[in-house]
Amino acid sequence: MIRVTNLCKVYRTGAHQVTALADVNINVGPGEFVAIMGPSGSGKSTLLNLLGCLDIPTAGSYHLDGMEISGAGNAALAKIRNQKIGFVFQTFNLLPRISAVRNVELPMIYAGVAPRERARRAEEALARVGLAERMHHKPSELSGGQVQRVAIARALVNNPAIILADEPTGNLDTRSGEEIMAIFQELNRSGATIVIVTHERDIALHTSRILQFRDGRLLDDEPVADPLRALVNEAPGLAEQAGPASNSAAEAGPAGSSVEQSRLAGSITAEAGPAGSRAEQAGSSGNSAAEAEPAGDNAAGRGVAR
Ligand SMILES: Nc1ncnc2c1ncn2[C@@H]1O[C@H](COP(=O)(O)OP(=O)(O)OP(=O)(O)O)[C@@H](O)[C@H]1O
Ligand SMILES: [Mg+2]
Repeated sequence: MIRVTNLCKVYRTGAHQVTALADVNINVGPGEFVAIMGPSGSGKSTLLNLLGCLDIPTAGSYHLDGMEISGAGNAALAKIRNQKIGFVFQTFNLLPRISAVRNVELPMIYAGVAPRERARRAEEALARVGLAERMHHKPSELSGGQVQRVAIARALVNNPAIILADEPTGNLDTRSGEEIMAIFQELNRSGATIVIVTHERDIALHTSRILQFRDGRLLDDEPVADPLRALVNEAPGLAEQAGPASNSAAEAGPAGSSVEQSRLAGSITAEAGPAGSRAEQAGSSGNSAAEAEPAGDNAAGRGVAR
């Protein structure tokens, strides 16, 4: 799914030169759930931005879903983001003045989906992350965890080949962080390939593989033998409510267990909102969310530098 070979990223600002990534080699297969860890400044966001086609490497190659990315121009990168990548930012990057459902519709506007279909798919994606009852709230009327779930719904709505998330739990309390991890575990169980950046080992242990970075280099590539299951000690009933036929995150098997690439075709019942309500929905279809970022190519703080 992801094949990165001798990847390097050097930032030049004036006379200064910072090597953010040096000679990184990584393969991520379809259906894997990977965490990137490392100290501040070790190149985690730089790598995720390269994987997300938000930036291009200085040297080395990057194959995503069989396509060579490193030589692509801005227009090609935008198209790849639109079709293949769902990006979740630490700071959410939602538009504050429009409702959750309108925020989730944005990537589909870029993709040219008709209005009625957009609304239907946005509602479906919000239901998948357990926010069916909050879809008409604006971001300011939602908790941090709920806002992050809107951002995940937006990343899912175009059915990307890969979901990338830069510290998706970084601004959240422990409980909300668990809810987010439950959603990711459920998405992974239904076939999604997911790469997250995190500072917290407890969060990383919910994935099936941890990549450790230091000074722009990959130090360690460690499988997680027995991933933690998010919300497994959840209030009794959540799993049962989900019913035997659905994929409750609370009863999720080891994250990253052999999943075929059925592209998010499963159902999510990870809802863990204050009311403990639950939502489930069949998979959405379409392409991309990265285009929805209000800040466009600069959404991650830096543009596509050519
Ligand atoms: N646009 C930029 N211009 C110049 N240097 C940059 C730029 N972005 C990042 N860097 C530098 O590249 C290095 C890696 O930064 P990066 O943001 O990838 O680190 P990180 O591991 O994500 O850190 P954190 O945990 O603090 O988010 C740092 O030394 C940083 O100062
Ligand atoms: Mg970072």
